[in-house]
Amino acid sequence: MAKREHFGSGAAAVMAMAGSAIGLGNIWRFPYMVGQNGGAAFIIIYLLAAFLLSLPILLCESIIGRSTHAGTFGAMEQLAPGTRWKWLGLMTVISPLIILSFYSVVGGWSIEYLIKASGSGFGEDVSSLFGEFIIKPWAPLLCHTLFLLLTVAVVSAGVKSGIERFNRISLPVLFVLIVVIMVYSLTLPGSAAGVRYLLEPDFSKITPSVVASAMGQSFFSLSLGVGTILTYSSYMKKEENLFTSGLGTAAFDLLFALLAGFAIMPAVFATGVEPGAGPGLIFETLPYIFSHMSAASPWLSRTVSVLFFLTIVIAALTSSISMCEVGVAYLVEERGMSRRKASLLVFAATWTLGAFCSLSFGPLSGVKLLGNTIFDFCDRLTSDYLMTFGSLLFVLFVGWKMKRETVRDEFTGGGTLRANGRAFGFVYFLIRYVAPLVILTIFVTNLVA
Ligand code: TRP
Repeated sequence: MAKREHFGSGAAAVMAMAGSAIGLGNIWRFPYMVGQNGGAAFIIIYLLAAFLLSLPILLCESIIGRSTHAGTFGAMEQLAPGTRWKWLGLMTVISPLIILSFYSVVGGWSIEYLIKASGSGFGEDVSSLFGEFIIKPWAPLLCHTLFLLLTVAVVSAGVKSGIERFNRISLPVLFVLIVVIMVYSLTLPGSAAGVRYLLEPDFSKITPSVVASAMGQSFFSLSLGVGTILTYSSYMKKEENLFTSGLGTAAFDLLFALLAGFAIMPAVFATGVEPGAGPGLIFETLPYIFSHMSAASPWLSRTVSVLFFLTIVIAALTSSISMCEVGVAYLVEERGMSRRKASLLVFAATWTLGAFCSLSFGPLSGVKLLGNTIFDFCDRLTSDYLMTFGSLLFVLFVGWKMKRETVRDEFTGGGTLRANGRAFGFVYFLIRYVAPLVILTIFVTNLVA
């Protein structure tokens, strides 16, 4: 087999992981959750959730990946050969591919909107635009195909010349774009109400269920539990510092979510519409805002809307690339395929499932799986169950199955990283006791709710 590739530097690894983490979750859910659940009070809870719960989980994936230099399946085979842990390896090969299938449908919608924004604009009557678009059979399918082709093209170019290069360019571009949009949004008359929506602290809104959803959001946002961080970490060299890379990833992810909040909510309030979450926010509310603004300044509104949908397409791509890589790494390393062939196979599989997801808004809307449409079923299966279950198994594996010395060695660079050595006791405690209990609670809540 060809020599295994590595990311060129620690910074490259952080950019790739942050690229995976920064995605639709930061743009269409975080800002709304903050506003709804107590503003600055929620941000504090989210910070605690991100750094005390999600970061330890992320580190578990990193430790498994980097200590074995193998993908999810291969890592389990190396660390626990001949045991049932191989099912964890297999599950985490399949979960990201299910996510990729429906994520690519949404990525496709963003491409369609980017094309619309840069072409004729959104016109006068935007209220029915989205509803009419997604029920069509062909156009969304075509966009899904295009989005997936872009994803696969980057992955098939390799870890260094594909994934690393794409993220190294995209991540700075994403930050510049979102800051430009934010500056514009904050200068709109009436935008202060949006800032208040995000920042005014209201501690009375912090209930156990809000805390649970902050935790759920933080690990969705960091792409945990499905082996993407594991796989990316397996491309890190031994001398890189896992702890600071993880911290950097979590910090970038949080920063981008906050910037997205300040880019979106002030514009929402300046236009006087109701904020919401999910696809409705970016595909209905925002086009309304853009068309509303175009009366005042058509040129500016057109430019901002193009930049905005460009941001979404790029953010979605850097995430979808990481999902695709998990499957490709498995096929290349465990099934001996060439990268090109593996990419084609992943394309074929996720295109097919994604096509069903896409059609489930229109012609296949009557097909229900346990009461959900195909799209919703894939979304809930992964977000509510597979991601939490995967996270639980990863922390149990590192906390209870792997030897403490191995974990410590990996975390402290064989004892050379002093600061990590001092943090280890606390982090290990979080991994062993706190994380499993909390994740189990969330998992059971999802099961009964
Ligand atoms: N973190 C991504 C976002 O915020 C979504 C996501 C969830 C994801 N699970 C993932 C991305 C697994 C890559 C891999 O939009």
